[in-house]
Amino acid sequence: MNIIFLGPPGAGKGTQAQRICAALNIPQISTGDMLRRAIQEQTPTGLKAKSFMDAGGLVPDDVIIDIVKDRLQADDCKNGYILDGFPRTVPQAEALEKIAEIDRVIELDVADEALIKRISGRRVCLKCGATYHVSLLNGKTTCDNCGETLIQRDDDKAETVLNRLKSYHSKTEPLVNFYQGRGKLVKIDGAGDMDTIFDAIMKALA
Ligand code: AP5
Ligand code: MG
Repeated sequence: MNIIFLGPPGAGKGTQAQRICAALNIPQISTGDMLRRAIQEQTPTGLKAKSFMDAGGLVPDDVIIDIVKDRLQADDCKNGYILDGFPRTVPQAEALEKIAEIDRVIELDVADEALIKRISGRRVCLKCGATYHVSLLNGKTTCDNCGETLIQRDDDKAETVLNRLKSYHSKTEPLVNFYQGRGKLVKIDGAGDMDTIFDAIMKALA
């Protein structure tokens, strides 16, 4: 099954994508994680993307579409995947239609005020992409999966988060109508606890 996770920054796309991917044994394709790794490794793509990400804006469509096209050709995508953070604009969604058949789009719906709280306490592992919240870490500073030191993302500063929310509402939210019109969208309340949301997504994918 080929699935898209749509939702604002902090909605829980990464958190739930990791769990659903483990349950369905399919890869999580997070464009944000791929770009952060490219920046860390100082690749040409990383150098192009950094200023846009630091400002809380979107990386240009042509850059991101090329990355996803390449990634979807890998062997591990043959039995399905979750696209986490792509597409994020109508041109990206149109480009995706030319290269993949999407079965379901899960929209995680959370109010802006709750998102800011979640993002300000987020800690991530750059090595394996795992996501945590300080309120649940009990002072722990390393990743449960791989032992790497957890960090706060550069774009999780308050002023950058507001720009990311603006980008979401102006450029990405139109995709709700785009996929509703194609009969693929399922809206999930992303404000509850993580287990309830996981169950709701699994039900929507059944
Ligand atoms: P990206 O990395 O995709 O960031 P994002 O969309 O802003 O989303 P986040 O990763 O911030 O949130 P999430 O929904 O994954 O939430 P999470 O599960 O971590 O993109 C970063 C940047 O890259 C973009 O700004 C852009 O510049 C660029 N980019 C990426 N893709 C692009 C594209 N296609 N086109 C152009 N540019 C692109 O959860 C957040 C926190 O909340 C965590 O601490 C978590 O523990 C906690 N939490 C999760 N669920 C719950 C819950 N139910 N209750 C309480 N807390 C919860
Ligand atoms: Mg994420």
